[in-house]
Amino acid sequence: MKRFIEHEELARDRRFIRQQNVAADLLATLPDDVDAVVELFEKVGPVIEAGTRGTAAEPLYDRFGPAFTLMTLNEPIRPGDPGTEDRLKMRMHGIFVGELQALEGAGRSLWDFPEAPWEFKMNMARQCWDEARHVQIFEKLLDHVGGEVGMYAESTFLFEAACADDPALRVAGVNRALEGLACDVFRDNIEYAKQTDDALMEQSMDYVLADELTHVRFGSEWVAEFCKDDPERLAKAREFRRETDRRFNFGGARSADKDAAIQIAWEDRKFAGFTDEELEDLAQLSGEGPSRKTMKKAIEILVARFQEEHGIPSEAQS
Ligand SMILES: [Fe+2]
Ligand SMILES: [Fe+2]
Repeated sequence: MKRFIEHEELARDRRFIRQQNVAADLLATLPDDVDAVVELFEKVGPVIEAGTRGTAAEPLYDRFGPAFTLMTLNEPIRPGDPGTEDRLKMRMHGIFVGELQALEGAGRSLWDFPEAPWEFKMNMARQCWDEARHVQIFEKLLDHVGGEVGMYAESTFLFEAACADDPALRVAGVNRALEGLACDVFRDNIEYAKQTDDALMEQSMDYVLADELTHVRFGSEWVAEFCKDDPERLAKAREFRRETDRRFNFGGARSADKDAAIQIAWEDRKFAGFTDEELEDLAQLSGEGPSRKTMKKAIEILVARFQEEHGIPSEAQS
């Protein structure tokens, strides 16, 4: 079996539609400037549009244009808010494919590094077992919120961003950045489930979060072990994790700001081996780039322009 596969080689059945994720990568590099955000989204509009064709997101694109991705990603999921139902389905679908990629990431980490210690392989095998269970849980949760597998396009940017050729960097990217993001998202969803008295969602998310904390801890421990006599490698692993985290901030959607769509799960992450210093750094990192205010203004402009161009009455924005 081949080692180090490319994301295009990930196997999917015919239910899945693959999407190029240009926006998330580019967002990570943008300044806090309304015009820059507007310009970027107008430029990548056709790619975003292509990713919606034949999916449940098509009507959202037709109504709001390329900004619909920002409207779904950058707004918190709150009970009763307009668009919450779509946002929830998209999030559950995104987590479902994220779990699939986490399973693939852990499987690759087990296979790609034959020289790694036996305990490392056992940890990765344990993670595969957990992620396989998570895939099943989220398939059911997706159904629970009225969605279905393949209703939205899948972007493999989690797998792309986190898979490095050095095992220290791999676990820094997959286990600390990707799994850390999962902790932030699950903690947020547990709060939503509490507000909506959804015991099924609350409990399943809580079970999954407990596993994710273990996976982050695998990352914290193995980065330290692989790099124990090599400060240069440790610095590289740290930088790789920061780079990956920068991409996962989604233009400030996940940050320490109190009005961010997804907060950093500070206490959970500490429990999983993040230090206060690393968390302060993550908070600062996620605060870079466009602010929520900037994103809101950019969304307003993008939606107004799209609707004017396509003769859509602006009341449709509600
Ligand atoms: Fe998972
Ligand atoms: Fe995980």
